[in-house]
Amino acid sequence: MRSSVLSLTSGRTPLSATPPLDRAVASALPTRLRPADLLRLTDEGAEDVLAGRYDHLLPPGGVWPLERRWAARLLADDEVDVWLISWTPDKSTELHDHAGSLGALTVLSGALSEFRWNGKELRGRTLTAGDQASFPIGWVHDVMRAPAAVESAGPLDPTLSVHAYSPPLTAMSYYEVTGHGTLRRTRTVLTDQPEGEL
Ligand SMILES: [Fe+2]
Repeated sequence: MRSSVLSLTSGRTPLSATPPLDRAVASALPTRLRPADLLRLTDEGAEDVLAGRYDHLLPPGGVWPLERRWAARLLADDEVDVWLISWTPDKSTELHDHAGSLGALTVLSGALSEFRWNGKELRGRTLTAGDQASFPIGWVHDVMRAPAAVESAGPLDPTLSVHAYSPPLTAMSYYEVTGHGTLRRTRTVLTDQPEGEL
């Protein structure tokens, strides 16, 4: 039987499939969970959504909002938040980081466009159903529903993804790319909303 978030953090099961960290390194990190743990949690969350285990949290009548991003918190404890997000066309998150939290996502349906700052420029990629990505601290990106997903799926077919943040998200900073090809922070907000305000 696979572990849940609760068993993962209760000490009844191994913390991670990845090798243990050096104690000094581990004590300096903001969470004992690692990217591989978060990837596994989002994968499990996606599986649970697809299996109908979170149907009680989904929008009434199965009607996904079209005007705004929608999100439901699937799981939460002191170490991690897991969210289901429905993405709407033409609504990007803006360039942002996740402050002191690590993150990961699994795409359930549709496709996401991600534009990540690599230190010199924004690099884009498309994440489709089944794809995963993890976000170390310092990761700056802009995420939106992929235009291709809008065209091929139709406006009523959702693009859904499950996200995990550890420690639970508390703040995000937003950025802009300057005319000199550098990144400038424009604001920092306190928030626990996944990928920013909906
Ligand atoms: Fe993000």
